[in-house]
Amino acid sequence: MTILAKTQTPRPFLKWAGGKTQLLSELLPRTPEEFGVYFEPFVGGGALFFSLQPDRAVLADANAELINCYQVVQTSVEDLIEDLMLHENDEAYYYALRAADPSALSPVSRASRFIYLNRTCFNGLYRVNSQGQFNTPFGRYRNPRICDPVTLRAASEALQNTALVVGDYGGALQEARKGDFVYLDPPYVPVSKYSDFKRYTREQFRESDQRELAQEFRRLTEIGCHVMLSNSWHPLVKELYEGFQIDLVEARRLVNCDASKRGPVAEAIVRNYG
Ligand SMILES: C[S@@+](CC[C@H](N)C(=O)[O-])C[C@H]1O[C@@H](n2cnc3c(N)ncnc32)[C@H](O)[C@@H]1O
Repeated sequence: MTILAKTQTPRPFLKWAGGKTQLLSELLPRTPEEFGVYFEPFVGGGALFFSLQPDRAVLADANAELINCYQVVQTSVEDLIEDLMLHENDEAYYYALRAADPSALSPVSRASRFIYLNRTCFNGLYRVNSQGQFNTPFGRYRNPRICDPVTLRAASEALQNTALVVGDYGGALQEARKGDFVYLDPPYVPVSKYSDFKRYTREQFRESDQRELAQEFRRLTEIGCHVMLSNSWHPLVKELYEGFQIDLVEARRLVNCDASKRGPVAEAIVRNYG
């Protein structure tokens, strides 16, 4: 009898606030049939990237810890798996590792710390204080999946022809050319005064940033890129993307402080192509 090796379609290896797994059934049918390089400059957990598996891609994010993690998954996945096996799901251990300065660690230990905190922290919510230090409390999960070798190896394979960039979305997009596909998934325009609690980086994404992003959407349109953007269903979004295809879709939001507010929410998908 032949036992086939267990293979897996790549998927996000992190839980990420605003992750797009729940919206894939709306996003995938709206992607262009053909394109050159795939750009995702607010990559977060990378749900659309892993699902599409493009031949060539540029992934960026302003969160340096996150991009270090992608780089280690890309180049040193076996060392990472070995390191992840050593962690303990214990409150005192959690707070000691949370307090460690990531810049003093090797790239592998730094990525391992990041994945450990992501798997064991409250709600998988990446939140930093004004000094940029991770400050989410311990999640008290009975049996969190700290090390998932199958998912990590599949992600590593998917990342092989991918450029990984730390920084503002604008830098990575300087490389985009005619025929490339750009998916923009910025921090959303808040729909209520309570929905602005997601802090992935020290800097907030303000209304002026949303306006600049809409200008970048127009610049990319002028040079001939296919551009798709997701955001909340908000009057500002409709104003900024007037003239483009704006679809109203329903998404299930998984990260909300209040469990009763985790129902479907209206979101916008904007495209510069039909
Ligand atoms: C809505 S999340 C993206 C979620 C992702 N599509 C997924 O499926 O998990 C937004 C991401 O944008 C990043 N970000 C915030 N401001 C940014 C900026 N100015 N440039 C690049 N990335 C930024 C955050 O660190 C966060 O990972």
